[in-house]
Amino acid sequence: MLETMGDLKRTDYCGDLRSSDAGSKVVLMGWVHRRRDHGGLIFLDLRDRSGVVQLLFNPDNRDAYAKADEARGEYVLAISGTVVMRPEGRVNPNIPTGEIEVVPDKVLVLNTSKTPPFGIANGLEPDESVRLRYRYLDLRRPEAQRNLMMRHKIVKAVRDFFDARGFCEIETPSMIKSTPEGARDYLVPSRVNPGRFYALPQSPQLFKQLLMIAGFDRYVQIARCFRDEDLRADRQPEFTQVDVEMSFVQADDVMALVEDMIREVFDETLDTKLPRPFARMTYPEAMLKFGSDKPDTRFGLGISDLTDVVRGSGFKVFASAAASGGCVRGFAVPGGGSLSRKELDDLSARAVSLGAKGLVWMVVEGDGVKSPTAKYLSDDELASITGRLGAHAGDLVLIVAGDERTAATVLGSLRLDMGARFELVKPGFSLCWVTEFPLFEYSDDQKRLVAVHHPFTSPMDEDLPLLLDGSAPAKDLLRIRAKSYDLVLNGTELGGGSIRNHRRDVQQALLDRLMIGHEEAAERFGFLLEALEYGAPPHGGIAFGLDRLVMLMTGSASIRDVIAFPKTASASCPMTGAPAEVDPEQLVELRIRTLGIREQPPK
Ligand code: AMO
Repeated sequence: MLETMGDLKRTDYCGDLRSSDAGSKVVLMGWVHRRRDHGGLIFLDLRDRSGVVQLLFNPDNRDAYAKADEARGEYVLAISGTVVMRPEGRVNPNIPTGEIEVVPDKVLVLNTSKTPPFGIANGLEPDESVRLRYRYLDLRRPEAQRNLMMRHKIVKAVRDFFDARGFCEIETPSMIKSTPEGARDYLVPSRVNPGRFYALPQSPQLFKQLLMIAGFDRYVQIARCFRDEDLRADRQPEFTQVDVEMSFVQADDVMALVEDMIREVFDETLDTKLPRPFARMTYPEAMLKFGSDKPDTRFGLGISDLTDVVRGSGFKVFASAAASGGCVRGFAVPGGGSLSRKELDDLSARAVSLGAKGLVWMVVEGDGVKSPTAKYLSDDELASITGRLGAHAGDLVLIVAGDERTAATVLGSLRLDMGARFELVKPGFSLCWVTEFPLFEYSDDQKRLVAVHHPFTSPMDEDLPLLLDGSAPAKDLLRIRAKSYDLVLNGTELGGGSIRNHRRDVQQALLDRLMIGHEEAAERFGFLLEALEYGAPPHGGIAFGLDRLVMLMTGSASIRDVIAFPKTASASCPMTGAPAEVDPEQLVELRIRTLGIREQPPK
């Protein structure tokens, strides 16, 4: 029989009780976490969001004992009782309440529970689709509770930081006109404007710029963003940014502020002191040394260029890469000579699957180099290669020849593989800035230049004349560097930002180079271009992925672990069934007709 709480009022949270509370009368409310019967006694662990405390029932109190006997996992109880010290043999040093237990005098069963589809107390992680289907149970797990409470603390520390520095939190709209950030938009049809759609924001980018033009000077927002893109462990269709914009600043000002913020948040929430300044490297340096624009700087294995060493080599693969404007690069893996032939073959196969034509490997031995390729290279060349890469006896050398991009990305991936294989990744947090990204890159799909970040990023002052020179060929435009900066933590891109174009002519030139015609530009972002004509101040900012920050700070494997109700990898919610079909009436009202999956759209 279920009981009501009546006028029983909770006095304490379970996980807060300590030996100093021994002798106190307490009222606790929570869930049955675990139950054990032992020598005529019943032990229930009662759990609430603060943790668990052990309840001890002996048969002397018949009523309480009978209820404890009935209670099953996840039943909801209210108890009143006395805190007592545990006898020596029962002390549990592994939990904060391990020195005490509570002897209930009264127990109310507030609710029962079906047997949950997975154990909440056993520390095992069931299949993710089951966890998300019963997310409210999954979130009862202490780790999940800890993650979301940590998220709250981080958000509070972020807000306090910005508030103390005069930033104003302003909400920007969620039903907007498309803001390009490189992903697809989620669209929302308008009933009162049939055939027209709002886009959900991929970011508040244009609105925060308009707020600078409006004179707010320092803006921050914990903003929900929406991107219809392929999902991964660090991507969700709906995610949260810490979005920042400032007027009258240079890139260094934004970066210095962000360093202060990140350091304060780590200090406040993890009691971790991060060194400053954070490391900085330019995009070309990151691509050369780490083969990635999000370098994992927790370990070495730096990549070096070998093109000059092998130019004119008798080994055709190297010589022709060097002669055709490509490059030859490699790195040494200390102790990597211990890999088996099968592991080396697997590495070669992996390099090919990543786009390389092949992988050259060499094992350095006391008196030379063991490699199927060694016979094509002179002793001088081999010595120069191992010398340049700092490889010694027992080390493995991995080399890729090809165009710069392929060599960088293949070696960057192999570097990560080797870092993991040889357990080189040091625990802790390694932050670095990557700066001077190119403003444009060439899109093979679209056969034109596209913006590397978004098209509102300013070029570096030295490169502005090139942007404004209407006759510069596309290949020269690829050399233009942006006033942009990404913050990378342990190899994950945490945030990105830039100084913006506050001059209309510069913004227009940039859109022209992207072949966004004047009419199209006016149609897509005419409001911003117009606003730039009314005294727009120089401004810049940054946005962080809050979910990614919390994921890394809590040591979680995926951002799904730090979002209360995330979507699966196919952007759906197994609990609510979203996305779902809608009532045909709603579609009629919206004047929308859907096509069957195999139906072709009308020409
Ligand atoms: P950007 O597109 O680099 O920049 O996004 C900023 C940060 O947002 C996070 N992020 C994501 N997190 C989870 N799931 C996603 N799908 C996802 N996409 C992005 C990343 C990323 O670093 N308006 C610009 C910022 C600016 O210029 O100020 C912007 O949105 O951590």
